[in-house]
Amino acid sequence: MKKYFLYTLLGCVILSVLFSFENLNVENKGLKELTTFPIGTAVRVDQLQSDAKLKELQIHNFNSITAENDMKMYNVKPNEEEYNWEKVDKVIAYGDTNEQRIFGHTLIWHSGTPDWVEKKGRKDTLWLDNFLKTYIFEYVSRYKGKVDGWDVVNEAFDTKGGNYRKTLWYDVLGKEYIAKAFSYAHEADPAAKLFYNDFNIERDTAKLHAMLKMVNDLKNDNVPISGIGFQMHIRVDVPDEIIEYSLKKAVETGLQIHLSEVDIIFNKHDDSKNGGVQKYQELTEEMKIAQAEKYKNLVKMYKEIVPKNQQYGITFWGFTDRDTWVRSFFNIDDWPCLFDDNLEPKPAYYAFKEALN
Ligand code: XIL
Repeated sequence: MKKYFLYTLLGCVILSVLFSFENLNVENKGLKELTTFPIGTAVRVDQLQSDAKLKELQIHNFNSITAENDMKMYNVKPNEEEYNWEKVDKVIAYGDTNEQRIFGHTLIWHSGTPDWVEKKGRKDTLWLDNFLKTYIFEYVSRYKGKVDGWDVVNEAFDTKGGNYRKTLWYDVLGKEYIAKAFSYAHEADPAAKLFYNDFNIERDTAKLHAMLKMVNDLKNDNVPISGIGFQMHIRVDVPDEIIEYSLKKAVETGLQIHLSEVDIIFNKHDDSKNGGVQKYQELTEEMKIAQAEKYKNLVKMYKEIVPKNQQYGITFWGFTDRDTWVRSFFNIDDWPCLFDDNLEPKPAYYAFKEALN
């Protein structure tokens, strides 16, 4: 009897040592090592080059990058005379050197359109039609085989509800600009995955359904669309049920699903620049836990609802509270990311990890 007790005790000790080794192992692993789908983040390449700690964290955790601003139209085509490839080349070089997937963001977006295109395009339909084609063709061909996928069209629907956004592109070329953009991108790089990307589609049902109708129409017309990007800029109190519903509906299209710009805030805003409302003055322990729970649930939903062959990956819109776009854009203090202001992991980081694993 005594012997039996000793053996059991020994067994327990061995198991718990093994278990803690395994835990230690997970603790040391980066996010990217714990999953079969890519884990990405938005990056500012110049900043990564000048901040060793940030770069180390980035390389340790992520295997996919999206340029936060460097690949937008106003940077690539600042004037009519020239293309500015310098920044894009840097993004590509960073991705190549560190063996990370490069995601192109974004070809056609109202907020990325430089003023000179806006002005000229409003006066000359033919010119704009031709510019849409040459811009996409030159850009996508230049990085053929380097950029894995593109947000071809970003935010074509109004902030709220199911109407098309009245942008330069829509006003002058009609909604056909969307199908054209996808076709030109496909022509330039037939292997690149081509996404439609938008925000609030995880919670605004009218917007979700309008987007799905557009996507299904594109598919029926044999327009080469490969995926849907849910930006997923959410607040900690968006109900999981509504996100679940939206993901399920999107999965039914059979397309790739990318959570393309994830962050989770506490405060409110109206989606416009400087539109933040400072409800919480500081980040408490309870808030950290609530946020961690939300990050965990998001991964769980993604893993459970999106079939493996449709999982394009999860990309964060930056990974530190210090550098989040939310603060400057909405003009509020908030803490939406996995790492804090001192680049230390928050409970959200561990919860996200746990859910991946
Ligand atoms: C944001 C950047 O993070 C900011 O630095 C910039 O001032 C404005 O754009 N949806 C998108 C992204 O598709 O391109 C936006 O990025 C955030 C919202």
